[in-house]
Amino acid sequence: MPAQNVSADYIAKYRRAYELMRSLPQDDPRSLATQANIHCSFCNGAYKQAGNDSVLLQVHFSWVFLPWHRWYLYFHERILASLLGDPTFSLVFWNWDDQRDGGNVTRAMYLPNDSSLYDAKRNQANLPPTLVKLVPTITGNDSEIINQNLNPMYQDVVNNDNAELFMGGAYVTGTDLSNSTVLSAPLGGSIENGIHNAMHFWTGDPTQPLIQDMGTFTTASRDPIFYAHHSNVDRLWDKWRYGLPGGPRADHSEDDFLNTEFYFYDENASLVKVNVRDALDSSKLGYSYPDVAADELWINYSPSPVTSGSAVQAALASGVPVVGPYPQNGTISLGSGLTAIVAAPGNQSKSSDEREVLVIQRLTVTRDIFVAVLVFVNLPSAHSSTVTSSAEYVGTYNIIAAPGKTLTANVKMEIGDNLQRIGIQNETEVVLTLAVKGTQPITIDGLLIHYE
Ligand code: C2O
Repeated sequence: MPAQNVSADYIAKYRRAYELMRSLPQDDPRSLATQANIHCSFCNGAYKQAGNDSVLLQVHFSWVFLPWHRWYLYFHERILASLLGDPTFSLVFWNWDDQRDGGNVTRAMYLPNDSSLYDAKRNQANLPPTLVKLVPTITGNDSEIINQNLNPMYQDVVNNDNAELFMGGAYVTGTDLSNSTVLSAPLGGSIENGIHNAMHFWTGDPTQPLIQDMGTFTTASRDPIFYAHHSNVDRLWDKWRYGLPGGPRADHSEDDFLNTEFYFYDENASLVKVNVRDALDSSKLGYSYPDVAADELWINYSPSPVTSGSAVQAALASGVPVVGPYPQNGTISLGSGLTAIVAAPGNQSKSSDEREVLVIQRLTVTRDIFVAVLVFVNLPSAHSSTVTSSAEYVGTYNIIAAPGKTLTANVKMEIGDNLQRIGIQNETEVVLTLAVKGTQPITIDGLLIHYE
C-alpha cells in the first residue's frame, strides 16, 4: 500500500515490526544494524569480485541495481513479517512521485522521535509540509515544484524506455567502476541516477558531512524510511515494465544478467543464494502493487519548450565551443558547468528499436561529497538552478558521496523526445549544457548524440 493510505492499525504493526528488529542483538543478521550493514557492504566495496581479486563488487551503477534491491527488500520484509508472527505483513511504498494525492511529503508516522520508524539524521528543513524535490536543485512555491517533479519522472521513467537506459548497463566479473576505458565504462540507469538518488539526497541530513543517513550508502538503510523509498523504486520498475503506454517493456535478457547470484540472510537467519532470473516476476515473490491513480500525472506530463528555434547560431557567435566524441577534445573539466555545441544525427533515419541517445563519455568523479550534473538542451543560459519543468531538461546524474571512491561512467540519456518537442530534431548540431551542483571536480572525455 502507498505510505499515505495505511490505517492506524497498520502503522501500529509497522512500528512494532521495527521495534522488534531494532531490539535484536547487533550480531543477529536480522537486526536493523546488520540489515543496514548488508547494504553498506554491497554498496561500498567491502567484497571483492569472485575470481578477480583486484576489482570490488558494487550493486549500484549497473543492471544489478534493481534486482539486488528487490531481493534485499524481499528478505527484509520476510524478516519483519516473521518477527511479527504475521506472514501477511508487507512494507509500504513511499510514492514520492505522486504529486497530487499525498505521496510527495514525509508521512507523519516517520516523525515521532519515540517511534521505531524515526531516524534522527534527516533533513530538518524537509519535514512536512515541505514537498519532495526529484532534482536536488529545485526551488519555488508548491505549484512550481510539482511540474519540476513531474518532468524528471516523465524523463527518467517514461522516456528512457529500454532496459539499458532505464535499469543500467552490463555489469559482469571484471567490470571496474573506478578504472574503465571510455567504451567499457559502466552505467547506471535513469531511475537510479535520477529520481532515486535525488530522494536519498533530499531525505538525508545536510549538516552531516555525507548527508547521513539516507544521503550515503554506508548509512542509508539505518533509516527505516529507506525500505519504503526502495519499495517505490521497486514499484516503478514494475510500472515501467508493465504499466506504461506502448505495452510491456523488456528487462535485460542476457545470461550474464539472469544468472547473477547474490547471498542474503532469510527470516531464519540462514544464508541463502538467489539469482536475478527469479527476481524478475514480483508475483512469484508473492507481492504486487495496487494501481496508483496519481501515476497518470507524470505518465501524461507533456513538457513544453521554453525556447523556439535552434540556439546553435547564437551560441557559435558568443564563442561556445564545439565538443565531439572521445578522443577529439581530450579530457574536459566541467567546473561549474559546460555549454557546448554537439553534433546530432539530424534527419538520418533511425530504426524502430533505436533510441536517440546522449552519451556523456567517461564522466569521472571522486565521490567525496554529493554532486549532481543537470543536462539541458538548446538552453545555453541554463545553470544549476534552471527550472526542470520544460522540454529542454533532459535529466540529472546525481552522484552519492563515498569518500575516496572514484567512479567512471558513460552517462546515457534519451534525448530524441526533447529535440522533437523543441522542434530541432532535424538539426545536425545542438547546444548542450551540463550544469553542476556542488564543488567536486568532474571531468568528461567526450559528448556524443547518436542512435543506438
Ligand atoms: Cu543501495 Cu537507494 O540504494
